Amino acid sequence: MVSKIKKIKKIKKFIVTSALPYANGDVHVGHLLEHIQTDIWVRHLRSSNHEVLSFCADDAHGAPVMMKAEEMGIKPIELIDKVRLDHIASFKKFGIHYTNYHSTHAEENKKLSIEIYKAAKDKGFIYKKEIKQCFDEKKGMFLADRYISGECPKCSALNQYGDGCDSCGSTYSATELINPISSLTNTTPSLKVSEHIFFDLNKAKDKLKSFLKSASIQKPIVSKLSEWVDGELKSWNISRDAPYFGFSIPDEKDKFFYVWVDAPIGYLASAKNWASKNNIDIKTLWGKNSEYEIHHFIGKDITYFHGLFWPALLNTSQYKLPDSIHVHGFITVNGQKMSKSKGTFITADQFAKVCDPELLRYYYASKLNSKIEDIDLNLDDLSKKINSDLVGKFSNIFSRSAPFISKNKNFLGENLDNQIFNKSIIKASEVLKLVEIKEFSKALKLIMEIADNTNKYINEKKPWKLDNKEAVIIATTAINIFKNLCILLHPIIPNICSKMLKMLRIKSYEHNQINNKMLNIEINEFNPVISNIKSLNIQQFIVE
Ligand code: 2FM
Ligand code: ZN
Repeated sequence: MVSKIKKIKKIKKFIVTSALPYANGDVHVGHLLEHIQTDIWVRHLRSSNHEVLSFCADDAHGAPVMMKAEEMGIKPIELIDKVRLDHIASFKKFGIHYTNYHSTHAEENKKLSIEIYKAAKDKGFIYKKEIKQCFDEKKGMFLADRYISGECPKCSALNQYGDGCDSCGSTYSATELINPISSLTNTTPSLKVSEHIFFDLNKAKDKLKSFLKSASIQKPIVSKLSEWVDGELKSWNISRDAPYFGFSIPDEKDKFFYVWVDAPIGYLASAKNWASKNNIDIKTLWGKNSEYEIHHFIGKDITYFHGLFWPALLNTSQYKLPDSIHVHGFITVNGQKMSKSKGTFITADQFAKVCDPELLRYYYASKLNSKIEDIDLNLDDLSKKINSDLVGKFSNIFSRSAPFISKNKNFLGENLDNQIFNKSIIKASEVLKLVEIKEFSKALKLIMEIADNTNKYINEKKPWKLDNKEAVIIATTAINIFKNLCILLHPIIPNICSKMLKMLRIKSYEHNQINNKMLNIEINEFNPVISNIKSLNIQQFIVE
């Protein structure tokens, strides 16, 4: 027998994170791409018997959260507490679960942020400098770039934000905008001087270079990060003036940590919160000598923060740097950028009201690979794919084979067609390798190839023309392969596969079950778990 799924030689320990959603809005299909990608990978590793802890949290601080709470007439803390529970509930609908889902506005995070800041300060990475910034006199606050608009200083395009021009692509500082206007009060901001606290990123250059050599990050991302590191690294302003919703910086008056300081530290805080509840020292999980591999899943827009700022912050701390950063592209909906005004903005809850959330997991998986390509959520394509793959190929194997088993008092046969079963196992082991390297799309193609071959096998053997005994062998072979397809698909569509496996009376979906043959055992009657879905259109999702 050649075709065995090999036993995992070494059980590894993983800490896996997804980017922390901001606490000022709903989970939407863009977030879901990343959280589904992470969840599939985590479930896959667990089914391979690795030890995996997954951490996430809400990103609770910053001006937008503060403004949103003000708009709603509530305190920021009330907003973030409610939004966090909403986020957890939305993720749950899509089968997305974390070992711990915390908040960056938590005591652990405050302590860790101060500890990490002080370590950087002690090692001489922190200095102060006065800078001029746009100040809204009416509101009495300094303005974040996104709250200022005006003419681009390079190409004069109108209505451009304070950090860069959508029209010519140039980046600049908000103080350079021509005729700036505060979007908070529609007044012209003044320029005001304030002292700020900077992190000297250049000082971390050598460490960042060695980090980029040792960490496992996609090549194009390493190239981009190396380009930045090889140039002059701008110091990073890590402070914000009051009023600001965040943590106070120790030994400073009315200064708060910029949200992007305590956001990635929020990964660590989520881990620490869980570790304390389980009597584990956080150093065991994240200390410099931890046995855990640390993997961050992020979108391409926050590469700079995770590839440079975050390792630079960790450098002088007692915690280890990430082992791997997995970057994905953006999502478009029916070929368009996701936008409320264009009517292409779909929240997780809106999606779940119209369509089984697992089907989005399947669709995203069918498009995801290890590259940083953007992915289009095409609603028409989604229904076609589900009907053709999951109903027409996958589920069909069981529904076609079940009648022969039913006639056999629901007992599978005493033997099966080894040749075709073994062939499917060879492909199954390829699938496992592909999922491990995040080539989900290729893995699903191979899974569907196994399903196609099995359907062809049934077509060729024509069990309906054979006597019962022979027909049972064909059906037993097909159902054994179907059992393996359920195991392979489990990380992608866990709910559907659990129901299918329950019908087969199989309790475990671990990968080492793939080699096992189900012979001479009783199974349940077939009940269709999935059926064809109607074509979807965007209006169905937007109408409340
Ligand atoms: O870009 C965002 O949506 C951020 N809230 C992600 C933070 S990830 C981590 F660093 F906290
Ligand atoms: Zn411009």
